[in-house]
Amino acid sequence: MARVLTGIQSTGIPHLGNLLGAIIPAIKMSENSKNESLFFIADLHSFTTIRDKKVLQENTYATAAAWLAFGFDTKKNLFYRQSDVPQVCELTWYLNCFTPFPMLANAHSFKDKSDKLSQVNSGLFTYPVLMAADILLYDAEVVPVGKDQIQHLEITRDIAGAFNHIYKDSFVIPEVSVDERVMIIPGIDGQKMSKSYNNIINIFLDDKKLRKQVMSIKTDSLGLEDQKDPENCNVYKLYQLLASEEKTQDMAAKYRAGNYGYGHAKQELFELICDNFSEQRKKFNYLMSNTDIIELELKKGAKKASEIAIKVLARIRNNIGY
Ligand code: TRP
Repeated sequence: MARVLTGIQSTGIPHLGNLLGAIIPAIKMSENSKNESLFFIADLHSFTTIRDKKVLQENTYATAAAWLAFGFDTKKNLFYRQSDVPQVCELTWYLNCFTPFPMLANAHSFKDKSDKLSQVNSGLFTYPVLMAADILLYDAEVVPVGKDQIQHLEITRDIAGAFNHIYKDSFVIPEVSVDERVMIIPGIDGQKMSKSYNNIINIFLDDKKLRKQVMSIKTDSLGLEDQKDPENCNVYKLYQLLASEEKTQDMAAKYRAGNYGYGHAKQELFELICDNFSEQRKKFNYLMSNTDIIELELKKGAKKASEIAIKVLARIRNNIGY
């Protein structure tokens, strides 16, 4: 049984791109009986930038509600909030004392973020060390991440290796698993769907607002009667990701035949989103108006996570001499 661990950024309500590109594939992987998945909401990492109590809490709830609505099995796996297991902060300190300053100063993500932000705090600087602690605190064996996080995983492995060199048998060195297939989901303007590009589809909105988002997908100016190339159309690109083979071919044929407008295609896409995700949308909204259920799930996960964390931290403290 492999212990698979990954951290989930909580930046608000997950959009269709997050769901199709990351959440649904991760949930599928967690269903493999050979794996035990530890997924946590990285709300201590969020504190490097968020300064609003309500936003911090709501982001965690929205993220958790989406994972739960899409069926992440919290009985088989662990689902917790990073801040509920404070041992990670203690481990971060031990790891900080093993982290060469230039390694952090040269990390791409720090350089990118520090160039963009007006205020750069030390939390942002030691972000990769907290991430190493997230992983090492649970003896994780496999860490699935997107390409942008590979360097952070290398930092984790370096720190753990250096620590093990002096304090034998301390950490499990994790393997990185990079999902090469990570799908880039187009947003309503055809660029990668991302909150920062303001081009998302939020499937958890009510029908009217959701329809409005779908209707605002950018298309070219061909008229209703014109024949159209499906491969060049943002509506079709999204439809294809959600529809059966048969429905997809059917839509492609209508594009090519003409007398089929973008408005028709958008309406079909909207209906498909509603059909495909009707259960998940209901469950998400139910959870968001009953956040005590989310709290209960996260607390249950934190309890299981703490049992592992306490044991590993005791081993490390003992190795150091505390
Ligand atoms: N930094 C990761 C991201 O931006 C999230 C994360 C935090 C993480 N801790 C982690 C991922 C530990 C994997 C393992 O996506």
